[in-house]
Amino acid sequence: MKAVICPDFAPVDALTSGDFPAPQAGPGELVINVAAAGVNYPDVLIVQGKYQTKPALPFVPGSEAAGHVAAVGEGVQGFAAGDRVAAFTGSGSFAEQVRVPATQAWPVPGAVDLHVAAGISITYGTSYHALKDRGQLKPGETLLVLGAGGGVGLTAVELGKLMGARVIAAASSAEKLALAKQQGADELIDYAREDLRERVKALTGGQGVDVVYDPVGGPMNLTAIKSLAWGGRLLVIGFAGGEIPSIPANLLLLKSASAVGVLWGNTVRADPAGQGANMRQLLDWLAQGKLRPVIDRRFAMPDIVAALHHLEARKVKGKVLLTIAPEA
Ligand SMILES: NC(=O)c1ccc[n+]([C@@H]2O[C@H](COP(=O)([O-])OP(=O)(O)OC[C@H]3O[C@@H](n4cnc5c(N)ncnc54)[C@H](OP(=O)(O)O)[C@@H]3O)[C@@H](O)[C@H]2O)c1
Repeated sequence: MKAVICPDFAPVDALTSGDFPAPQAGPGELVINVAAAGVNYPDVLIVQGKYQTKPALPFVPGSEAAGHVAAVGEGVQGFAAGDRVAAFTGSGSFAEQVRVPATQAWPVPGAVDLHVAAGISITYGTSYHALKDRGQLKPGETLLVLGAGGGVGLTAVELGKLMGARVIAAASSAEKLALAKQQGADELIDYAREDLRERVKALTGGQGVDVVYDPVGGPMNLTAIKSLAWGGRLLVIGFAGGEIPSIPANLLLLKSASAVGVLWGNTVRADPAGQGANMRQLLDWLAQGKLRPVIDRRFAMPDIVAALHHLEARKVKGKVLLTIAPEA
């Protein structure tokens, strides 16, 4: 089969496209004919060996996909060949076929475009798990989203609104903030030009925010902690800015606040029933038009290096997709 191949942990330019052995469905697994794959910031890190998990070399990267079931492994219930599914693959989705545990695949309703569904799992799955399960976000609470124009950030804005919160979107450009506004943000902060802490103070009458969603890390993380309200929750999502921040325990103590780690992929493996329910809810909302994913750009499979450079360049507004086969 045709695939993107990572021969060694190296900068993204070292990726090649070529033939790779097609996967077989083992017990409990599905093989999916991939229609499209979502491209995510962690893919940039995984191919360089800078992520928490390091696949055995050589490997096919790609953490999520949607397509049609091609083969059903022994013991799998509830799926049949030809079913439309979205899946969290961990790796392997930048290819014509991918193998995945059946517990990490979810049916895609007929009303949902399969290419759009390819980019749903990681961004919406992470944000919904973060806000609902880890952040305990309640209607009427205030949510501050950093990196609000990026892949996961934009979905946190949209889901925060759907969950009844007042959403403050913070990002580094007017363009990204316009997109956050389009996805429902109530207030906007341009942290490239405005003082984040002062603006949060002004927007919350000095009270601070109940929940911070931080996929950026670096020095802004400390500002965000200082911007928490009494009993606030800091959701540690990622470090796209490159720097892993240290969290001063005294600031948590003073606000009776919590810093809460979020690692969606491992949670799907540890709690497939809970995250499966979340994913079915998200796909239902998508079918009902309550979620409107923003697609930034679609790249063809041989253009994977350009797609990953696009993410590295901090240019992405919403989701990047790799198109593998026509939607059918
Ligand atoms: N914990 C989990 O389960 C989980 C799941 C998925 C992703 N993540 C993590 O979440 C982070 C964001 O992922 P994503 O796919 O949403 O990425 P993305 O679309 O590229 O968005 C990342 C945002 O971070 C900001 N940023 C600041 N400095 C940056 C830099 N030097 N390079 C790139 N972006 C920078 C940018 O917003 P501004 O320009 O507005 O600052 C950008 O929009 C990554 O660290 C990823 O590993 C975690």
